[in-house]
Amino acid sequence: MKVVIQDDADAVAAYGAEIFREQLQKKPASVFGLATGSTPLRLYQQLIQSNQQGDISFARVRSFNLDEYMDLPPDHPQSYRHFMDREFFDHIDIDRDNTQVPPGNADNPMIACRNYERAIQDAGGIDIQLLGIGRNGHIGFNEPTSCLASRTRVKTLTRETIEDNARFFSDGETQPQLSITMGIGTIMEARLIVLLATGEGKANAVKAMVEGPMSAWCPASALQMHPATVVIVDEAAASGLTDPGFFKHIEQHNQALLARIKA
Ligand code: GLP
Repeated sequence: MKVVIQDDADAVAAYGAEIFREQLQKKPASVFGLATGSTPLRLYQQLIQSNQQGDISFARVRSFNLDEYMDLPPDHPQSYRHFMDREFFDHIDIDRDNTQVPPGNADNPMIACRNYERAIQDAGGIDIQLLGIGRNGHIGFNEPTSCLASRTRVKTLTRETIEDNARFFSDGETQPQLSITMGIGTIMEARLIVLLATGEGKANAVKAMVEGPMSAWCPASALQMHPATVVIVDEAAASGLTDPGFFKHIEQHNQALLARIKA
């Protein structure tokens, strides 16, 4: 797990966006795993800007979103399909038919979950999986006690997650208690994982993820076993780490090494 500490949320987004740009330059037909939540918004804005300037194209990209609320129609303003369209897909040159979000309103969710797994396999697997992290250490909607080998499935949300996300629902609006989410096993198959976390509210989750122990109580801690995960955090989200200075020290050496390779 590579941990990169940046000054603020803008720098976190810039670092993450650069990874996506480089991937697109290497492989224009990349498969991206995408995430919702407030954390990736700045990264999406940077990628939109690069796309509109003609620096990168999503024309051959296929994407799979991590999760979706159960029983919200795709045009519901709080559905993750709607979020992705509004915040990202509407502004870039991606072919909408190549974007998938788990079907939260499928008649048979079990079959829908199996089909989602198959579609990821058929696309050749995920090149980069983007992740945020919940305050309770969830990734996607893999809540604490999730099986660390889980596949795409229906998952019951914790009270904490429901409260955290209540801010997006208006008063009196029914908020879903269930979701469909890629499993931790599904996420772990991505070739590269880029996890973003910003703000002090994520400090405990980041510490538990990075320092362990690996446990179903912090689902993100499973990423310790992933061979290519980059965790990009701002100072506030890094504030719970035992030795943040060590990660800065490592990053300085990494940058120096990169410069030497490029020279
Ligand atoms: C949501 C999503 C996660 C997201 C997390 C954090 O419940 N299912 O994919 O990473 O919560 O959201 P935010 O970035 O708004 O803090």
